[in-house]
Amino acid sequence: MSADLHLPIGIFDSGLGGLTVARAVHRLMPREDLVYLGDTARVPYGNKSPATVVRFACEDMQFLMNHGVKAVVVACNTVSAWALPTLEQRFQVPVFGVILPGARAALAATRSGRIGVIATNATIRSQAYNKAILARDDTVRIIARACPLLVPLVEEGWMDHPVAVSVLREYLSPLLKWDIDTLVLGCTHYPVLKKAIREVAGPRVRLVDSADTCAEFVKERLGYLKLLDTRRRRAGVIESFVTDEVERFEDFAERFLGEKIVPARKVELPSV
Ligand code: DGL
Repeated sequence: MSADLHLPIGIFDSGLGGLTVARAVHRLMPREDLVYLGDTARVPYGNKSPATVVRFACEDMQFLMNHGVKAVVVACNTVSAWALPTLEQRFQVPVFGVILPGARAALAATRSGRIGVIATNATIRSQAYNKAILARDDTVRIIARACPLLVPLVEEGWMDHPVAVSVLREYLSPLLKWDIDTLVLGCTHYPVLKKAIREVAGPRVRLVDSADTCAEFVKERLGYLKLLDTRRRRAGVIESFVTDEVERFEDFAERFLGEKIVPARKVELPSV
């Protein structure tokens, strides 16, 4: 049996949106310890250049490695889109991103083969979802759109605000006109907008939530790698770290998770 299996799973994101992934992982693997890092001092990554995203990702990853994690989940779509190959190459633990599980779930969900993808500017620019989906099935058609206003709306707590619905109508109208039957929510923040997205997209469009699909993928891969702690009797502990002040963390965490969690600690990231 691998000694590593008792170590925590690391999860990081550009900010706190990745808590949706942490929650999904915790629900699915309740006995696993988790170490969460949100780079709140430098969020958002979604409008940064690829080189900057990769550099930040390496620093986030190194922080988690210093905490002795057995595997790392990249909750951030933007990082998953640009930095995964570099992280896999530079660090000696399994690294899981959100793009591949999202692509698989989209293909499983679609009936008509018309898939919409919404994400940050950087993720759309990378075409990571298009490539991952088309590599598995080149008969489907994909329409992708960057929705840069959605992250600030969520950060502002305007998930149920009429402005959120208007902005979504604007962003989603070309996708809906094109008659998509599946919509990939390709950003950590979008799952908390699900209610408004459903209202705009209607009941016929299936929503692929990167948090849930990623958690299932991680469980499957950790099981395969014999890295799941199946013998632990106690509940897993979630330790959280942020790079900016912790004051807003609890508020945010509650908004993203719908529940209270243990307060975060502020940390400096190692330079790599
Ligand atoms: N975490 C980012 C993502 O999933 C959204 C926030 C940001 O732009 O940093 O792409």
